[in-house]
Amino acid sequence: MAAGCDSPVHKDDQLPKPAPKVDYIRKIEGRSEKIALKEAQRGEVLIAYADCYTCHTKEKRAKGPAFQAIADRYPVNDGYFELLALKIIKGGSGAWGNPVMSPHQDLTEEDARMMVKYILSLKK
Ligand code: HEC
Repeated sequence: MAAGCDSPVHKDDQLPKPAPKVDYIRKIEGRSEKIALKEAQRGEVLIAYADCYTCHTKEKRAKGPAFQAIADRYPVNDGYFELLALKIIKGGSGAWGNPVMSPHQDLTEEDARMMVKYILSLKK
């Protein structure tokens, strides 16, 4: 008799594994660059004219994370300017918990990047 194919699955293999603990606000290490003041200032203005403050505030968590918490989490460099700019344009969830950020498809990547630069300039 071939035991291979229909040997019973060990019960132990089916025990649910404890869910891995996800630390949403884990700080990400990385190289940091300087942000041009002009771009950060432009980003601040763009944010004021967009809908960002309906879900975000500078210092406190609202529907979305506080801008300062975002700044504390991410390294300040080009890879993250791009990643976060695309996230603002496409919207989405999963990085901070359950609520979803609406997409902002009318934003250019350039403008979204300046918004990110303003947000990350709040890093203490
Ligand atoms: C409808 C509510 C809402 C609006 C409007 C909104 N956001 Fe968000 N934003 C969120 C939520 C919720 C998250 C967290 C998403 C997640 O957990 O991945 C978030 C996350 C972010 C992040 C961090 C993304 C990440 O992956 O860590 C940035 C940067 C950001 N928002 C910028 C902006 C900017 C700039 C605007 C305006 C153009 C804006 N948001 C408008 C709800 C919103």
